[in-house]
Formats: sequence, structure tokens, C-alpha cells
Amino acid sequence: MQKRAIRNILVTGGSGFIGSAFIRYILQKVPSFDGICVNLDLLTYAGNAANLESISQDRRYLFQQGDICNQALIEHLCFEHQIDTIIHFAAESHVDRSIQAPQEFLQTNIMGTFHLLEAVRKFPHIHFHHVSTDEVYGCLGETGYFTEETAYHPNSPYSASKAASDHFVRAYATTYKLSTCVSNCSNNYGPYQFPEKLIPLMINHCVMRKPLPVYGEGKNVRDWLYVDDHAKALWMLLERGKRGETYNIGGEAERRNIEIVHEIIHALAKLKQEDPQKLLSLITYVTDRPGHDFRYAIDCSKIKRDIGWVPDHSFAEGLKATVGWYLDNSKWLDDIKTGAYQLPSFSVPRPM
Ligand SMILES: NC(=O)c1ccc[n+]([C@@H]2O[C@H](COP(=O)([O-])OP(=O)(O)OC[C@H]3O[C@@H](n4cnc5c(N)ncnc54)[C@H](O)[C@@H]3O)[C@@H](O)[C@H]2O)c1
Repeated sequence: MQKRAIRNILVTGGSGFIGSAFIRYILQKVPSFDGICVNLDLLTYAGNAANLESISQDRRYLFQQGDICNQALIEHLCFEHQIDTIIHFAAESHVDRSIQAPQEFLQTNIMGTFHLLEAVRKFPHIHFHHVSTDEVYGCLGETGYFTEETAYHPNSPYSASKAASDHFVRAYATTYKLSTCVSNCSNNYGPYQFPEKLIPLMINHCVMRKPLPVYGEGKNVRDWLYVDDHAKALWMLLERGKRGETYNIGGEAERRNIEIVHEIIHALAKLKQEDPQKLLSLITYVTDRPGHDFRYAIDCSKIKRDIGWVPDHSFAEGLKATVGWYLDNSKWLDDIKTGAYQLPSFSVPRPM
């Protein structure tokens, strides 16, 4: 397939975990990218300007603080910067928060996507890539894999809101003939992930010698992908993804949650040259999450076959790099713990 020409990209949610990895990837690892990258992010608790400090002075990078529900702002950005590609990461993304307070998830994940699609209707030359999750497919037993044909069966307010947004993207592509693509990815891990998520939470608690809370019996299975490999897959899909298609992305690295905790402990103990036994004794089993899906597993053969994507990191390599990054970047974590990362004076994004 001929490569799509990409010049000026609007990234939503680019100050979060995966969006920032994507922006760093295109500005640092894609020599052919010579356009403008506009990051539209509301900077909720999950957004952090420090995630993009390494590229903040790049002449191709522009930051706009704002809400994806503000359609006039999206249209202004599309016009002003002659955007030809939108990649949509912005979302409320934490399942536990969606159980405590679902409304924000409907507002951002469904209405936000709706407003973006409405804006694209006014600029129909724009290609729209929607970043979604494997959680929309629901829950697997001990065997089987999610394919792009698996019926949606979301079980949490988070996955239901993402499923709804996926449906809107497909419906707009069919009804209004928009150029769209959807990708559904498994659990990501890597540097700059907010410490409420499993892997950074466990690393942080190990360092702090705090209990390591494991849901239920720790038997739930997830597939894990190093975040830079997700960024690479998304860039390849922007260039080569077939209009109107869905692609599953996964790491082919299934682990039970308790296995993940053990692997973190051993990686961290090795790096710090300490006895893993002390850390293992911190494991504490806690009441399971309501509606906790037992197993997710992705069949990602389509993106490998049709697009030629392969991940560059094994799980062991990615985990070692991640644990090492958190140990070397304690200030990043401390600024989150103190709340300093949200102060206006913390970092001055380049004004537009
Ligand atoms: N983290 C994972 O393992 C994973 C796996 C598969 C898919 N995804 C999807 O990838 C995307 C990014 O996930 P993440 O882990 O980087 O999330 P994140 O929570 O780290 O970041 C979300 C970003 O969106 C911004 N945002 C939130 N509401 C906004 C709004 N109304 N307007 C503008 N910006 C807003 C936040 O400030 C933050 O920077 C999400 O759509 C998520 O569903 C995540």
C-alpha cells in the first residue's frame, strides 16, 4: 500500500502516558517527519508537561491546553495549522476511577470523541486515528484470543465508554465517508506512566517499602506491550493503515498479575543489588475489583501481516528499562506525589 503523506498532526491527550511517548517517538525517531505536531491536552491529573520536556523546544512542537469537548477550539486548530492527521489519545483511562465516578468517562471518552468527529466533518480531508483498548472485547477464559472480529462486550464503565467511542468512529466513517482507522491495544507499560497503574504503582511501593496490593488471588491475566512499541505501531498505522479498518496491537506477553509483581521485584532487586525476599514479603492480597475481567489476550497477526509491524522489546527488556527509568527519575515521581507537577509555574509550555 502507498504511504499516506503526513504533514501536520493534531495529537489529543499528548501529555499523558502513551500520547507523550508517541510525540517523543515522531519527533526523535522519525527523521522524515517535517511537519507540525500540535498537542491538545486539558492537563487533567493524568497530563504532565514534564513528559514532554525533552522535546519542548523542538520547533515542530506546539502545545495548546484545552478540552476535546471544545469543538470550536478543535476547528480553530485544524484551520490554523492546516492539520491533515488527527491521532486521538485523550481519555479518562483508569478503570478503578471509572467504577468510583463514571460520569467523567462518558463526557471525555464519548462526548469528546463525538466533538472531534464533528470537527473532522468540517475538514473531511483529515485522516482520523482513534486509539482504543482491548478491554472493549470483554473477558476471555483460559484460552482464545481477541481478533478484530470479536464482538464487543465491555464490562467496566471505562471499557463501555471506549466501546461507544469506537462505534461512533465507525459510524461516522460509514455515514459521512470520513477517513478513519481504529486500533485496539493491550496493556501498555514503560516510562512516564502515572503511578496509579499496576507496574509503576508496584515499583513505587517497592521503593517506599509499602505493601504491594494485589487484587483477588492475583490470577487475572493481561497482555503487556512496551509503550514505545505501541508508538511505533501507531506511526506505521498512520502511514499505512487501511482506511476504515481496525487493527489489534499486542505484545504477545501474557502474564498473571502476581507474575508481574514477582518479575518487578526481581528486576528491581537485581538493579539495586538487594535481597528480593524482603520485597516479596510486602505482597498483600486485597478485595478484588468489581467486575474484574479474568483474561485479555490479543491476536495481533493482522498488523504484523498487513503493516509489517513487530515490537522491538521483549517483556524482560521492557520491564528492566521501565524499572531502571523509575529508579533514575525519582524527581518525576516526587513532583506527582507533592502535586508540584500541576502548578502553573512547574513548566511553561510554549504559547501558541
Ligand atoms: N494505558 C494503557 O495501557 C492503554 C492501553 C490501550 C489503550 N489505551 C488508550 O490510549 C489512550 C491514552 O492512554 P494513556 O494511558 O496515555 O492515558 P493517560 O490517562 O495517561 O492520559 C490521558 C491524557 O488525556 C488528557 N485528557 C483527559 N481528558 C481530556 C480532555 N477532555 N481534553 C483534552 N485532553 C484530555 C489528560 O490530560 C492526559 O494527558 C486512551 O485513549 C486509552 O483508552 C491505553
